[in-house]
Amino acid sequence: MCGIIGYIGDRPIIPVLLEGLRRLEYRGYDSAGIVFLEDEEIKIVKTKGKILNLEEKLFNDFPKKAKAPGLGHTRWATHGEPSDENAHPHFDCHKSLALVHNGIIENYYELKTKLIAKGHKFYSATDTEVIVHLIEDFLNQGIPLKEAFFKALKELKGAYAVALIHKENPDFILVGRNQSPVVIGLGQQENFIASDIPALLPFTKEVLFLNDGEVAILSKYQVEIYDLSGNPVARAPYHVTWDIASAEKGGFDHFMLKEIYEQPEAIKNTMLGRIDLDKNQIDFSQEGLDLKFLKGIQRFYIVACGTSYHAGLVAKYLIEKELGLPVEVDIASEFRYRNPILDEKTLFIGISQSGETADTLASLRLAKEKGAKTLSICNVVGSTIARESEVVLYTKAGPEISVASTKAFSTQVLTFILFTFYLKQLLFGENEKKQKIEALIKLSSQLKIFIEKVHPKVKTLAQKWYQAQNALYLGRNILYPIALEGALKLKEISYIHAEGYAAGEMKHGPIALIEEKVPTVILAAKETGIVYEKTLSNAEEVRSRRGPIISLVTEGAKEFQKISDEYIEVPLTFYEFLPIFYVVPLQLLAYEIATLRGCDVDKPRNLAKSVTVE
Ligand code: F6R
Repeated sequence: MCGIIGYIGDRPIIPVLLEGLRRLEYRGYDSAGIVFLEDEEIKIVKTKGKILNLEEKLFNDFPKKAKAPGLGHTRWATHGEPSDENAHPHFDCHKSLALVHNGIIENYYELKTKLIAKGHKFYSATDTEVIVHLIEDFLNQGIPLKEAFFKALKELKGAYAVALIHKENPDFILVGRNQSPVVIGLGQQENFIASDIPALLPFTKEVLFLNDGEVAILSKYQVEIYDLSGNPVARAPYHVTWDIASAEKGGFDHFMLKEIYEQPEAIKNTMLGRIDLDKNQIDFSQEGLDLKFLKGIQRFYIVACGTSYHAGLVAKYLIEKELGLPVEVDIASEFRYRNPILDEKTLFIGISQSGETADTLASLRLAKEKGAKTLSICNVVGSTIARESEVVLYTKAGPEISVASTKAFSTQVLTFILFTFYLKQLLFGENEKKQKIEALIKLSSQLKIFIEKVHPKVKTLAQKWYQAQNALYLGRNILYPIALEGALKLKEISYIHAEGYAAGEMKHGPIALIEEKVPTVILAAKETGIVYEKTLSNAEEVRSRRGPIISLVTEGAKEFQKISDEYIEVPLTFYEFLPIFYVVPLQLLAYEIATLRGCDVDKPRNLAKSVTVE
């Protein structure tokens, strides 16, 4: 989704804005623009296409006297096609205000009609432009800038993160937020705003988060936060522990590949400080997950979107098996518009890498309203979902830049493994076997070896199959969500139509798709018990219809080897750890196929990293 960067201070403004924009590219965009001051005038440079196009435009006519304050924006079109006119920033009628926006203004049409009737002239088809004209309208009535900004925000319906500069008030940037993320970077005699932390990492690690219904006024020297009624709000800063290298490609061709390879390290970090080796125990009590919090909980409701939803499905198998408590898993965009049955005996668990996904956030708020206890599993420290949950367990995967989520998924699954082991201790006094805890500790190094070993094999496989038009992914039990995740990875970055199914459902429809050119990826493991044999029967059914089979099976599964065209061995492991091993070859397969097809792996078409509008 759209990305915003803003700066006030003494640094050369254009390099700061371009650097920030480049670090927000991963969010997905179709046009880019910046605004700054030059000779006391506001100057906007914007263009359809990549930041590179913007740089070219600036190169041809470099504004030598450019200075702060300035704003930058990457646009992900919602209202109006990607074009130079629709790119942000947007001016008011007199070019004295410039504004950038991330979100959707739902009442823009009504506001625009009124403003046009008052003589305002619009230059774009965006919903955003109404905001800047609305502020101008208040200024025209003699209302001072800050008050005009507050008044305008109060009239908006929908989601927004907006930032504004005014040529007559060059000592300030004004920022407002409702449902779209804003993080403020604090510096020495300089301050920043951004849509996400990676944009700030080259400049500062001290950040403040803005909440919904708040406004921040940034000057070079200070940041003031207010609610929409104008009351000052105190906010403590966070120190970000991510380093700048973790948000760069570090020698890999793509962020996605780097992040696949980072999984062993990410997993190690997720475990750090949460395992007591002497006692064979997991400990989340420091994070607020204790008996007091869990008192009376009789069931779980897990809600998320996309890949995070798949991690939730894995959790259902783990929790039901290990804790014997009921678990519902739901897609956030469905949950929020139903009448889900929750009460104070329900623990609502929201999963979100970004912690900003609009539907997951709305679901969390709904769960709270219904009296459920709330816990979130997030990656981004201080994100909105994390802040609004009673308890948050961080996945500690480091920044995930690739649009296709990889290390976030494996660390979410690991967090649920730890969560399940911990609750077993806490609620039933049962410790995990020493052997299993030892295997947990070795998971990171085992995974590292596996990634290196399996990658060349997957590359060869991709060479053979990258021209396929359709693919099926089948699995049962805890490998069923991995089949869904494998199919999602393939379709989102390679644009091959891929379906994930519970293998037992194949006979109820998808079997009709099987033919010589449609590969079926089958996931099976003896550790899943009886369903292993059942999956083998499903594989036979594919085979007898001449469907090519790519099987992923734990070591020594000779039966599968016999009937498969391609065969990938996964190391023997405990049931709980299967998803982490099985997902890796599927991530690599999607990556290799997508690169062979010439797809832009880190920026898949139509997708955005952080889905902050519904
Ligand atoms: C797929 C992917 C998405 C996200 C989904 C939720 O590779 O990345 O499906 O998993 O948009 O995002 P978060 O976890 O940030 O809420």
